[in-house]
Amino acid sequence: MHYLDNAATSWPKPEAVYTTLDQSFRSLFSPKRGTSKASRLGANQLQEARNAVASLCNIANPERISFTNGCTHALNLAIQAFPWQTGDAVVMSAVEHHALSRPIRKIAQEKGVEFYVVPYTDAVPFNLAEYENLLKTRPNIKLVATTHASNVIGSVLPVEQIGKLAHQYGKLYLLDAAQSAGVLPVDVQRFHIDMLALPGHKSLYGPPGIGALYVGENAHLNTFMEGGTGGDSGKHEMHPTPPDGFEVGTIPLPQILALAEGIKWVQETGLSKIHQHETKLLAQLIAGLQEIPEVTIYGHTDVSRKTPVVSFNLLNHTPKSVGETLFDDYGIALRAGFHCAPMAHEAIGSIHRGGTVRASIGAFTQPDDVDALIKALKSVLSQSLAAL
Ligand code: ALA
Repeated sequence: MHYLDNAATSWPKPEAVYTTLDQSFRSLFSPKRGTSKASRLGANQLQEARNAVASLCNIANPERISFTNGCTHALNLAIQAFPWQTGDAVVMSAVEHHALSRPIRKIAQEKGVEFYVVPYTDAVPFNLAEYENLLKTRPNIKLVATTHASNVIGSVLPVEQIGKLAHQYGKLYLLDAAQSAGVLPVDVQRFHIDMLALPGHKSLYGPPGIGALYVGENAHLNTFMEGGTGGDSGKHEMHPTPPDGFEVGTIPLPQILALAEGIKWVQETGLSKIHQHETKLLAQLIAGLQEIPEVTIYGHTDVSRKTPVVSFNLLNHTPKSVGETLFDDYGIALRAGFHCAPMAHEAIGSIHRGGTVRASIGAFTQPDDVDALIKALKSVLSQSLAAL
């Protein structure tokens, strides 16, 4: 199989991630509760895992990081537990994933919060002038929430400027790093981030079912889910203070420790080395696609402003049929359709095509995986011409 679906979930994982998951599942007990030696060891390892996330994202205080069930959970927590008042407003980009835009649409409907969408063009994926104008003229904006990079086309948003402007106008900034953590530097301090949502299973090479939310000192959330946290066990109420206030119920320690191994692997391998490898393959992929006249590539093709994700369509073929043929006949795994991000497909004009075919590269992708895709597309086209 040629795996080109790393934007959905990375595969394979570093070996240490698999072994840590297996071994810790066999040997560890609840880290915040039990009195056994294993539980106490688990508590230390949990702390190390928080430290690993903090070091990856330049977070000064690891205690502000709560582990969640994933990036979607982290975003829902940040958005739905935000202390909204009716008439408040939030700003997002035009390429958001459902994980961010659906919670925003829900609070708009249920809590009377307004939302503004900053337009996308290939040249200017996030229009900073229009954004600043919104910040200047709408005092009811409380939060700016954007992705770091589009999961559909890989366009990287100018997050440092977005965060800086948000702070300049007294707003909080929530960053969705679903497509960037482990691909690009994510720096809480440099990007002026107040809340950061991370996935474990994508480019941090952890397992599914784990993510994290960083909540900075200036962001105050309500509780999102009530229950036991292992701390303040004798009290009837709980407090929305990270990390415990958002780690309700028994946390999945094996997944957390496996994620920490993934982060360690990324840091030891070197983010810049991974980035160089992925960018080289991205350039190879774009050049190969550009050789085929029947291919339309969506979004800009400047590899210095993209994560290794490319969306395209084949003339006279639906994305779904191309995606299925690529896997069934050529063993190429990728994703076709709307990628849970219809806003992005509206922005790039592929919504009426049924979305796009998306190929996404990871640290383990090899040049022959990219070649296989290009050859397969040429073969699909020659067969469909022969069938006419
Ligand atoms: N958000 C993931 C993707 O883009 C699942 O495929």
